[in-house]
Amino acid sequence: MIDLIQHYKEKGQGQVFAHFDTLSEDAQASLIQQAEQIDLDEIAALTKTLIKGSGYKPSYSVDDLTPGSYHPLPEKKNGNPSLWKEAKAKGESALRAGRVAAFTVAGGQGTRLGYDGPKGTFPVTPVRGASLFEVFAEKIRASSRLFGKTIPWYIMTSVINHEATVSFFEENAYFGLEKERVHFFSQGTMPAVDADGKILLSDAGTIAVSPDGHGGALRGLYRSGATLQMEADGIDIISYFQVDNPLVRCIDPAFIGFHIIEKSQVSSKTVLKAYPEEKVGVFCEANGAPVVIEYSDLPERLAVEADDDGDLRFAAGSIAIHLFDREFVRVIGKGKDNSQQLPFHLAHKKIPHITHDGEQVEPSSPNGYKFEMFVFDALPFAERSVTIETARQDDFSPVKNATGVDSADSCRDDQLRQFARWLSAANEAIETDETGLPNFSFEISPLFADTETRFLRKWQALEEKPPITEGVILSNI
Ligand code: UTP
Repeated sequence: MIDLIQHYKEKGQGQVFAHFDTLSEDAQASLIQQAEQIDLDEIAALTKTLIKGSGYKPSYSVDDLTPGSYHPLPEKKNGNPSLWKEAKAKGESALRAGRVAAFTVAGGQGTRLGYDGPKGTFPVTPVRGASLFEVFAEKIRASSRLFGKTIPWYIMTSVINHEATVSFFEENAYFGLEKERVHFFSQGTMPAVDADGKILLSDAGTIAVSPDGHGGALRGLYRSGATLQMEADGIDIISYFQVDNPLVRCIDPAFIGFHIIEKSQVSSKTVLKAYPEEKVGVFCEANGAPVVIEYSDLPERLAVEADDDGDLRFAAGSIAIHLFDREFVRVIGKGKDNSQQLPFHLAHKKIPHITHDGEQVEPSSPNGYKFEMFVFDALPFAERSVTIETARQDDFSPVKNATGVDSADSCRDDQLRQFARWLSAANEAIETDETGLPNFSFEISPLFADTETRFLRKWQALEEKPPITEGVILSNI
């Protein structure tokens, strides 16, 4: 204990123990335990490069960037329908063989949404108000039923929401999933620091920590033993999606098939950017290696550049839907040496803390820094990767904000538009506005159908078709 405190002092982080003598024995033990887990050399290096230095420096220059390549949708000009068909069949057989796990990252703080509780518990569907977690659970159940194999579900939580998340599943009887096949693990944390890289205390006996970013998923899967368990269960494909996107096809056979055909280690879905300034990362290549460039880092001249047909050149937007090869996750998650670590990025945030003098500070503007990893930074580590195009309307409508763009309202409307499209495909056109939005609410549960094709099959097989009116819910008929 003395050694540890001494070590902190020598590294210029003695303030962590400023209130140590005032703490109870238990509180002292808990602070020691937290302090033991922090790599002070890592914090010093991050402070030097990210806070004091010029920030995160990628190994390429923007002049090296070329647009990332991807497989266009089969119906597109350069699409290859027979390859998509082959991919779908390959994906389906992998699912029948039980090779795929679903994986949701749900450890974020969801500050923009401002909802009190884990984001996955947010009620998102138009009529039932089913939570994000319930929607995913139903999609996973639907796919398990279709392919005759239980698809296990891994959920990454964090210190801020682990217990509340597990309780939510308990209270809801795991939404009909086999409890033993739903696995939770809490992601790693990083200490928050001030502008001089000094570690902050949230109270006298607690280091201020925050989740280590969605990129923490890889080491989280490794450290929690999930990769080992997957190996034992014969799972080698991890279907990654984020907790805020209820439109996502959690399990997409064609995507899985492309991943298998290309022997890919990291596969991605892209939607084409709607306009040059759209705030999504863009798939690019830098000296032959795939990278995602954040929208803020893509120079305007590239963002607006058009090809001969007038289409954006750097158009392939990243929507945080990936497939990972289990062994790749194991190698990167283990992070044997620095060359295999995902880089950290800096976030300037408001961090409540206690000062050396015991004053509790509730900042009204950003006063410190958090360190986060981004999942797409795994891409350049992959020797083989593949990206496929998807239709935004079938895969992506995130709930990020309380109002406006990417909010609960916009997501609700996108769900309604999807349901209306499926009905229209079944010649059951309902009245919509010019954006395809019906003027009343109804709902199709993923247990009824989770894709248009499956909807058509199910709907056409119904002997008595229910009238689609306000408040109707098509559930597991
Ligand atoms: P966001 O980047 O949208 O962050 O996360 P957030 O924390 O949910 O929301 P804000 O920025 O505070 O408003 C995208 C996805 O990554 C997960 C989130 O739970 C969400 O599914 N995530 C993010 C983690 O699992 N861990 C993290 O440390 C950060």
